[in-house]
Amino acid sequence: MKQHLAGKLICPSCLPQEHVLQVDIRSVEAEDVVDGTLTCRHCDRCFPIKDGIAFLDPAPPDERLANRYEQEEVLSSYLWSHYGDLLGDEQATDAYQQWAGLMVPHTGMALDLGGAVGRFTFEMSCKCDLAVGIDKSLAFIQAARRFMQEGELRFTLKDEGLLGHEVIIRRPAHWQPERVEFIVADAQRLPFPAHTITSLASLNLVDKLPKPSTHLEEINRVAATSGSQLLLSDPFSWSTEAAEIDQWLGGKANGPYAGKGLDNIETILRHGGLTPGWQVTQRAHVWWKIRTHSNHYELIRSCFLKAAR
Ligand SMILES: C[S@@+](CC[C@H](N)C(=O)[O-])C[C@H]1O[C@@H](n2cnc3c(N)ncnc32)[C@H](O)[C@@H]1O
Repeated sequence: MKQHLAGKLICPSCLPQEHVLQVDIRSVEAEDVVDGTLTCRHCDRCFPIKDGIAFLDPAPPDERLANRYEQEEVLSSYLWSHYGDLLGDEQATDAYQQWAGLMVPHTGMALDLGGAVGRFTFEMSCKCDLAVGIDKSLAFIQAARRFMQEGELRFTLKDEGLLGHEVIIRRPAHWQPERVEFIVADAQRLPFPAHTITSLASLNLVDKLPKPSTHLEEINRVAATSGSQLLLSDPFSWSTEAAEIDQWLGGKANGPYAGKGLDNIETILRHGGLTPGWQVTQRAHVWWKIRTHSNHYELIRSCFLKAAR
């Protein structure tokens, strides 16, 4: 983890109280903390930094999530989804460039929440001082960090059944790896102090969370009170695998948050008690694709809103 990020973190266990973390470094290589701990002097909780990865998720690993997002096949699917264009694959989409094109360049920090293997974080490295990708999946964060450090990544793309072939992606020269970091953390308990983040992205995440409204409250807490921007995009595939129905922010005929997710999130941002309120400046959709094997792709209509305050 980049050493200068340590001073920007707080204890995610103590939220809503905000307590700084003390960094103890056992091994550092060129400003990168390879081995160490981040300790909260208030609750005494220790968050390890191992092989350069900071573990700031206070919850024990979620078995359901671990089963899905730690699997090698799923990792390969997401690497293709994020970087398929770098392979010159004609099936690849330009979804991440479209999303990044919506973001205004700025000073300060950007967070890519549930950022998986890092494409949007790399895109944001050209638009801000520091872009941090946050994800619960260790396998995803390891791959993103390796790409950040080594500039290339090999992985196996599944062809059919047990058949696959190795591919290699190379990081484009205009991305700024020195302005990128990836950490393991929970998008519902962000390890950042209030009002310190200039831009936030939540792409294809909100329907995967057990507490989507807590995620919005956390976005609101860390976002700067003025001059900040938010991009939220999602297919709104609500499911009881991710969250109880009473937690969904849409996809229901009755009760709180009846109707469509994007409409309800717009209402929450504008008038839902999040202060200062947000202005929604744009709504549209991006076609996003995930590859399972050479003859099987999932085409996803990810509906987004762009908001600012
Ligand atoms: C559907 S994927 C979307 C990934 C990426 N944002 C994109 O659009 O390509 C959902 C991601 O959210 C991550 N995730 C799920 N729950 C999370 C949580 N509570 N905090 C952080 N990341 C989470 C998963 O590991 C996965 O990488």
